[in-house]
Amino acid sequence: MNIIVCKDYDDMSGKAADLVISNIKEKPQIKLGLATGSSPIGLYKNLVKASDEGEISFRYAKSVNLDEYVGIDPNNDQSYQYFMKDNLFDHVSFNKGATKLPFAPEADEKYCKEYDKYLDDFGQRDIQILGIGENGHLAFNEPSDKLNRRTSIIKLSDDTIKANSRFFESEKDVPTHAISMGMADVFNAKTLILLASGKNKHEAIRRLVEEDTIYPELPASFLTLHPNVYVFVDEDAYRG
Ligand code: GLP
Repeated sequence: MNIIVCKDYDDMSGKAADLVISNIKEKPQIKLGLATGSSPIGLYKNLVKASDEGEISFRYAKSVNLDEYVGIDPNNDQSYQYFMKDNLFDHVSFNKGATKLPFAPEADEKYCKEYDKYLDDFGQRDIQILGIGENGHLAFNEPSDKLNRRTSIIKLSDDTIKANSRFFESEKDVPTHAISMGMADVFNAKTLILLASGKNKHEAIRRLVEEDTIYPELPASFLTLHPNVYVFVDEDAYRG
């Protein structure tokens, strides 16, 4: 794992964006795995700027997203669909149909299989962007005694509902379930880029960096098995 300790959120976003930008320049038909949450917002801002300035183009790029809440309307401003449009898709030149997020109006196993099929056809991503939950979750793969390999409907942990309630009016408005890529698909990328900022991420980052074990109670610990991981952390997340 390459750990890059950055001064603050902006520094982290800029450094991670530089890596993504150089990859897009090298391979305009790049396959991107995208994430939502507050961690990648700054990275996306930098990508939009680079696109506005003509440094990169998304015309030949394709993307697929990690996860989505179950039962949320795509027009709801808390849906991940809305987030992606708002932070990236509406501002860059992806072709129509070149971006994809899971959409599960109901907790529907059949749709999970369809998403798996989409992922299989999409193939290995060049880059997968990741955030990390305070409890060490990746996408919505929550700490548990076992982790799913492929797309599943996940019951969100109380910790995650609490952490994500900051985006909703109240805790009871946070959806109880999400649809998420499984661990095998999260890792099916040549390069993984994990972003973590803020003291609330320190414990998860400390365990990831210091503990030389892998276990499903810390889904992020499986990152250590991947040969090409960049962890961009700010001082607060790194030192606490
Ligand atoms: C959410 C998402 C994850 C994200 C994580 C951290 O629940 N499902 O993909 O990485 O929590 O979010 P944030 O970046 O807002 O701290």
